[in-house]
Amino acid sequence: MSTTDTTTHTENTLPLAGRVAVVTGASSGIGEATAETLAARGAKVALLARREDRLAALAERITRAGGTALAVPTDVRDRDAVRAAAERIAAELGGVDLVFANAGVQHVSPIEDLRTGDWQHQIDLNVTGVMNTIGAFVPSLIAAAAEGRPADLMTTSSIAASRQLEKFQVYSGTKGYISQMSRVLRVELAPKGVRVTTISPGMVDTELPEHVDDPDATKLMADLIAQIDVLQSSDVADTVAFVAGAPRHVNLAEITILPTQQAI
Ligand SMILES: NC(=O)c1ccc[n+]([C@@H]2O[C@H](COP(=O)([O-])OP(=O)(O)OC[C@H]3O[C@@H](n4cnc5c(N)ncnc54)[C@H](OP(=O)(O)O)[C@@H]3O)[C@@H](O)[C@H]2O)c1
Repeated sequence: MSTTDTTTHTENTLPLAGRVAVVTGASSGIGEATAETLAARGAKVALLARREDRLAALAERITRAGGTALAVPTDVRDRDAVRAAAERIAAELGGVDLVFANAGVQHVSPIEDLRTGDWQHQIDLNVTGVMNTIGAFVPSLIAAAAEGRPADLMTTSSIAASRQLEKFQVYSGTKGYISQMSRVLRVELAPKGVRVTTISPGMVDTELPEHVDDPDATKLMADLIAQIDVLQSSDVADTVAFVAGAPRHVNLAEITILPTQQAI
């Protein structure tokens, strides 16, 4: 077998070869790691977030490693921008069959201190941003499934969706929305062959706590990171890749992923 033959063989046997993925929140943390992992397993990956420099650096890293990535700087709160991104991705990478609607933000405050901007930001990004993403890409997922291809819609919720953490009221509410909306969406999309999965992580070491300015919440998260072996973004990325690589008739619908020692 020639060198070229070997390369082709390897590419074809990558578990996600032929898949076209969209990852929102790809400029850092869970999204960045997931984009890199999906690309390493053969998917072409569209990278969405606002920080263009971070997306460009990630796209270059993926390309250097032999993968395919397209940086599409997008604010997912802007519905028209997400629709335009979907058109560009279809034209440049082909029909999307994997969507990881992951971009999110967390603010934590007592309700009497919660600045309007903070609660509005969480609702605009964690709820509206996810809906904009779903709205723009669901037709492509349904089309992929109709062609007999695997089709995955994955959302990032949180254990905060179902736990009662003081001062996390709006963040928890947005994640509760994501978990329940995804469950009900699955009822609608399952007969069309589109798998819907919600991933609910516990504590992951990312930039997320940097937006939190409540001292108690900051201490809670800093203590967890110092005291236990928390999750890394790559742990969640491996989970997303595993879900996407499951046989077409298998839908891992709801996954909670926790650091082993996390007790809250
Ligand atoms: N870390 C945890 O412990 C944890 C636990 C459970 C769930 N989660 C969830 O995991 C998801 C990813 O968070 P992370 O922990 O990886 O934190 P992160 O590193 O802060 O990632 C958040 C991502 O969202 C992007 N983003 C923010 N605003 C955006 C906008 N308007 N449009 C497009 N992209 C936007 C950010 O990029 P730009 O700033 O460049 O736009 C960034 O790439 C979130 O939904 C979060 O709620 C995290």
